[in-house]
Amino acid sequence: MLEVVVLVSGGGTNLQAIIDAVEAGTITNTRIRGVISNNKNAYALKRAEKHGIENLCISPKDYASREEFNVKFMEAVDGWSPDLIVLAGFLVVIPPAMIEKYRNRIINIHPSLIPSFCGTGFYGLKVHEAALSRGVKVVGATVHFVDEGTDTGPIILQKAVEVEEGDTPEILQRRVMEEAEWRILPRAIDLIANGKVEVRDGRAVVSS
Ligand code: GAR
Repeated sequence: MLEVVVLVSGGGTNLQAIIDAVEAGTITNTRIRGVISNNKNAYALKRAEKHGIENLCISPKDYASREEFNVKFMEAVDGWSPDLIVLAGFLVVIPPAMIEKYRNRIINIHPSLIPSFCGTGFYGLKVHEAALSRGVKVVGATVHFVDEGTDTGPIILQKAVEVEEGDTPEILQRRVMEEAEWRILPRAIDLIANGKVEVRDGRAVVSS
């Protein structure tokens, strides 16, 4: 059984997609052990609560230094002994010690086709604003392992989504979530839970 900890910062629609897939049995062999948010008002925490999933808030704002936060944050994650950590819209930089400890066991969902519209400053709606202002015709989402860089780790799954005439950043964000994020994030977890993802020479190899 893959024990998963999900890290969130906001609405938690990706968390919901994971919860629904576990409950529906489309993610197999997996238990959501706990959810952590850096934001106590995140609706994601309510979603966890509603499904009886342990959840807590740990915010950098409540600590004198980032180092102190990192220690407490890692203690909380380690306390659940996860096999996999899922960043589902988590907007805090992961402590380097955590990346080292959980090498190839942390995944992130990013709302673009990496390497487009990713890296520092590209998160949430900003990604879709940038895509629309560049005038690209195809966007999408990526699930990747987390390494020391920003959005640079091995790519596990990607899915493309068409841009349509009249799209606003909000409309495009929603379509990318519905058509790509909520599908590939649960799928990636199921693949990992069933031993179908391996990292070889810095690349993720997926077998089906
Ligand atoms: C999602 O679109 C996710 O891809 C994005 O934040 C949103 C969270 O929504 N993540 C990033 O931009 C990370 N760089 P949610 O809280 O409803 O899942």
